[in-house]
Amino acid sequence: MPPKLNVELSRRLQVLFVTAEAYPLAKTGGLADVSHALPIALARCGVDVRVLLPGYPQACSLIDRPRIVAKLDPLLGVSDATLISGKLPGANVPLWLVDSPSLFRRQGGLYQDDNGRAWPDNALRFAFFAHVGAELALGRNGIACQPDIVHANDWHTGLLPLILSQTKAPRPSTIFTVHNMAFQGNFPGDVISSIGIPECYMNPDGIEFFGQVSFLKAGLRYSDRVTTVSPTYANEVLTPAFGAGMDGVLRDRGDDLAGILNGIDDTLWDPAVDQHLPENYWLGNLSGKRTCKQTLQHEFGLPVNHNAPLIGCVSRLTRQKMADTIVDALPWIVAQGAQVVIVGNGDRDIEVTLRQAQSRYAGQLSVVIGYDERLAHLLQAGSDILLAPARFEPCGLTQLYAMRYGTLPIVRRTGGLADTVVNADAHAIANRSATGFVFDETSAPGLILAVARALMLFREPLAWHRLQMQAMAQDNSWDTSAARYVSLYCDARRLNPLSSAKVTPLTAAAKANLQPNFGKSEEERHVARKTHQTIW
Ligand code: ADP
Ligand code: GLC
Repeated sequence: MPPKLNVELSRRLQVLFVTAEAYPLAKTGGLADVSHALPIALARCGVDVRVLLPGYPQACSLIDRPRIVAKLDPLLGVSDATLISGKLPGANVPLWLVDSPSLFRRQGGLYQDDNGRAWPDNALRFAFFAHVGAELALGRNGIACQPDIVHANDWHTGLLPLILSQTKAPRPSTIFTVHNMAFQGNFPGDVISSIGIPECYMNPDGIEFFGQVSFLKAGLRYSDRVTTVSPTYANEVLTPAFGAGMDGVLRDRGDDLAGILNGIDDTLWDPAVDQHLPENYWLGNLSGKRTCKQTLQHEFGLPVNHNAPLIGCVSRLTRQKMADTIVDALPWIVAQGAQVVIVGNGDRDIEVTLRQAQSRYAGQLSVVIGYDERLAHLLQAGSDILLAPARFEPCGLTQLYAMRYGTLPIVRRTGGLADTVVNADAHAIANRSATGFVFDETSAPGLILAVARALMLFREPLAWHRLQMQAMAQDNSWDTSAARYVSLYCDARRLNPLSSAKVTPLTAAAKANLQPNFGKSEEERHVARKTHQTIW
């Protein structure tokens, strides 16, 4: 039975979306893309959503229509913070920046310095951010804001559900989305005295994790609902192999955990209008993709040759992303006459090995160590094949971008990769559902076999073109998943009715996509979980 929507409602559902990254203001990976595209999609569904982000230097300079709205009360010894209000660039979504020069305005990365060392005060930085989020969510600080829902993301915001759970006053319900269980925000136990959390929480039933304070555990334990970013990953994290030590904590949450698949911003990632490309193209006419390939080959110093299969990879260079396995497979791949282009950064030893491999395979392998948004778009458009394997992958966005650009992804069958790519086996080729190449092993031979299958099909232009069409025709936009979040918010809101104020009905689009799992029996919910549907 779908959730009841009250037609007498009189104000829109209000959501405070709290995140440490949001494209284009602050980005190290997919969290930024989601924190940009999901709020925009939620707003389209009729939700009154506002994003809260730390005031990093780039965010303060890029925010649209900035205005200082309040000096924030001193907290945890931090007394230099103001709240800046504005809009997400290019979108009509309100945004608040927590501008504390001592915590956030510094040269370097979002979480680490230029040498890759984590900022020593990360616990304080994100504890402060969480406390400010809680103050705002409770309408304190003289700012009239009482959201129905606080949607917190990843460990950086993990303390926020805990802080709100402590309040005796009416409070918003909390959703905590974990984008990657491997990033936990674990700090030495003694930080507990400096993050504004009572010491009684420092035990295994609280936020203690093997003697440390875990911000991730705080989010998992004290939020009203937990989500992660694909149905398969939501099942995987309940097991020791994928739970990164938190599988027991998650099993304790029972049906409070759901997997909602990420979507993509299909206006930013659209080969038909993408401004980073030398020529645009679309489903009905792929001729511009040929120009993109030529430009990619030229820019990366490779022979311009349309017939050479071009394999791209844009990724963090880490073990999660099997960058080590890609390195092992490279000699075989170049021996097949393929060209390889890699844009990425991450583990120093992998970066060094790739640079060495580039000299060895000059003219066939070209590597850019670094982070470059334009190159990421050009690589997606100019490649024939995207290498996007992973030992584990909560969702993964690059394989979704690749499909939209007619670039066929090679992925491992795990997490969101398993949920989004249909393997080009004989059956899927025959029934025209294939969109890429999926393999199971974590070793180089497994990856090599998948690349071999892709290269074989690449040599059959008609079959290849058909696969490209199928991949490009996939709808991976946010519409369906945003509506799932909306129904989750509606459900969670009932847990902590904030006031008698009523919310307005959802837009027709949101209603059309509402979750089918509401009101289902335990058994039905179990079946839904097994078949990877989203469960609430
Ligand atoms: P994750 O968040 O685990 O790194 P995702 O696939 O969810 O993986 O998201 C990665 C995002 O980061 C994509 O937008 C991708 O294009 C981008 N990205 C990754 N590495 C680079 C890079 N070196 N330069 C530019 N963009 C990158
Ligand atoms: C994390 C995950 C990635 C996911 C992204 C956005 O970085 O590693 O799989 O796509 O978050 O949710």
